[in-house]
Amino acid sequence: MRMYDIIMKKRNGEELSSEEIKFFISGYTKGEIPDYQVSAFLMAIYFRKMNERETADLTMAMVNSGEIVDLSAIEGIKVDKHSTGGVGDTTTLVLGPIVAAAGVPVAKMSGRGLGHTGGTIDKLESFDGFSVEMPIAKFIEDVNKYKIAIGGQTANLAPADKKLYSLRDVTATVDNLSLIASSIMSKKIASGADAIVLDVKTGSGAFMKDEDSSFELAKAMVDIGTHVGRNTIAVITEMDQPLGFAVGNALEVKEAIDTLNGKGPEDLTELCLTLGAHMLVLGNKAKNAEEAREILTEIISSGKGIEKLKELVEAQGGNPEFVTNPDLMPLPAIVEEVKISESGYVKEIKADDIGRAALVLGAGRETKESLIDLSVGIVIHKKIGDFVLKGEAIATIYANDNSKKVEADKMILEAYTIVNEKVEKNKLIKGIVTCQGIKKI
Ligand code: URA
Ligand code: CA
Repeated sequence: MRMYDIIMKKRNGEELSSEEIKFFISGYTKGEIPDYQVSAFLMAIYFRKMNERETADLTMAMVNSGEIVDLSAIEGIKVDKHSTGGVGDTTTLVLGPIVAAAGVPVAKMSGRGLGHTGGTIDKLESFDGFSVEMPIAKFIEDVNKYKIAIGGQTANLAPADKKLYSLRDVTATVDNLSLIASSIMSKKIASGADAIVLDVKTGSGAFMKDEDSSFELAKAMVDIGTHVGRNTIAVITEMDQPLGFAVGNALEVKEAIDTLNGKGPEDLTELCLTLGAHMLVLGNKAKNAEEAREILTEIISSGKGIEKLKELVEAQGGNPEFVTNPDLMPLPAIVEEVKISESGYVKEIKADDIGRAALVLGAGRETKESLIDLSVGIVIHKKIGDFVLKGEAIATIYANDNSKKVEADKMILEAYTIVNEKVEKNKLIKGIVTCQGIKKI
């Protein structure tokens, strides 16, 4: 087999065989196929596309390019959740504990990564002493004992995806449905998930800005899961404004604690109940989404959810006192309100720009080497549809550096669009994609 022929075949719009896809992934991972051939091949895929079978083969070839985490020693159906990424998304910190409290094993391997704020692991480090460093044996033991553990991602998970993603980034071939879907799904499958719930974000703060392409991406991922025997459901959700109010690390942990105490933002609570309900159904802990929702609502109101978070923090070396008293978490030197100079209704909040303002403050990483300041970030007070009065605070900035605070203040004000006419609130849940098809809400 020659890479040249495979490139030619796809360039001419033909369907590739499983063997050809495996040859490409294995050769590229081993360094036997050069970047210039793969660049041409990616561009051919970009224009000619891949069908469902080719996309599933590509995914499994990437899964098999590295280590596959074996979670078979964990009792029950391991249901993983993945979000395509948004601003201020704290769902994992809420979902993990409530789903675990309902009896579904949560064996979460999370990353740090680049972004507006840190990843789940960074956020959890707001609990003094919390660590994800542990041997796989303890990870499995913890999940069996507490139904939840959060570990770091192994370095050798889907290495083909790592190489391909970097190359796509510099060859203008990121935004192809088959390439995105296989990239995301390969990592989920390699980390041992039996079933997968996807939160596909749509809107200004999301990877997919328009609804149609978000549904298409969701369908591509559900098709892969179905094809390779992993029950997969995707929920398409709004990301036209930050989720909840908090964007930061310790600030988002506090927001998660509020939500577990039944006092969280409406949208974050609703999203967690929706995604969690699907996780319970896939994990065989409820007959349908309605029953699952009741179970989860009871878990929050009875305090079992917050107790589960405390258990998790303690099991991984963190100080559980912080869960009861989140004010123990690090606070920055500067806490200042952002005041608006006009009255009206909030029409738009550019989620990306709020995210970038949090990044400027030091809440996230610009490069792999950047250090995160867990204490800084933004809490917005007004969401789309809310009325604001001239001079009122639309947000509070948490900062450790005055010039950065000034910059963030300007960015937040620019992210908001205020109009005179009344504005309708956004719908959070846009639809669901299952192996049975697409249901728009
Ligand atoms: N996230 C991924 O992991 N891969 C992509 O291709 C796009 C987003
Ligand atoms: Ca939030």
